[in-house]
Amino acid sequence: MPPVRKVVIPAAGLGTRFLPATKAQPKEMLPLIDKPAIQYVVEEAVNAGLDDVLIVTGRSKRSIEDHFDRSVELEATLLAGGKSAELVQVISIAQLANLHYVRQPEAKGLGHAISFARHHVGDEPFVVMLGDDIMVDDAGVLKRMLAAYEQHGCSVVALKRFPPSQISSYGCVAVDGMTQDGLARITGLVEKPPASEAPSDLAIMGRYLFTPRIFEKIAQTPPGRGNEIQITDAMSLLLADEPILGVVFDEGRYDIGSKFDFLRATVELAVDRPDLGRDFRAYLTELVKSW
Ligand code: G1P
Repeated sequence: MPPVRKVVIPAAGLGTRFLPATKAQPKEMLPLIDKPAIQYVVEEAVNAGLDDVLIVTGRSKRSIEDHFDRSVELEATLLAGGKSAELVQVISIAQLANLHYVRQPEAKGLGHAISFARHHVGDEPFVVMLGDDIMVDDAGVLKRMLAAYEQHGCSVVALKRFPPSQISSYGCVAVDGMTQDGLARITGLVEKPPASEAPSDLAIMGRYLFTPRIFEKIAQTPPGRGNEIQITDAMSLLLADEPILGVVFDEGRYDIGSKFDFLRATVELAVDRPDLGRDFRAYLTELVKSW
């Protein structure tokens, strides 16, 4: 069983939920405090031991490549100004991981975006991480998924429970019990069902671990919901050939494509930051008192 080494981050979406901020800049570059969202995702991958990262980009995404590249002029300016902490920080971003890029010419769905990773990934298992889902969990869910793959050798997905009012925003799974090591046995998948048709309260979160067979299945998947090639539909085809297991988790996920969650993530990260937390907590306490 080959080990998992590679990560794919689809980042070609148009970011329409966050207009006008995303009119001329990628949503993946929106900062949570002082770090672009996509850097949190890459750091999570590296934390889990995965440092070969392919980013699937599209038009107006060049700033993502610039962010993870060396910036010779900036480095020279920081050096000349004696700003050594900033210099170390800027250089370390370019050394974080082995970054690769491929372009998706048209945004035709998540499955379609992942299919552009086929050449880079080859015949190996790999992880897909969606940039809208920021995990503040010390890569705990991703590490559990990798352990599940090592144990069972099949595809694995992250799952979280949602109330009926929210389930239609997600891919939803049917489950038949749990394995001995606490993983959900998935028996069916449906992309964004109405609450009345949801097979369970378990929603697919933006962390997937696939065997390379998923690429064949994506190629066979017709356009589905929204006339897009859905990864959830490709996973339904995959399920006919191999088991798919679910790692169920509860804490630590922020959907930063939602404005509310974006604010929640910013506030919660800020109160935990050693350099900001104390003052920011005091400020929040005063603010709340004034209401
Ligand atoms: C995508 C997937 C969906 C999944 C969700 C997780 O939807 O299609 O199955 O539940 O990510 O965030 P999107 O949020 O891109 O509409």
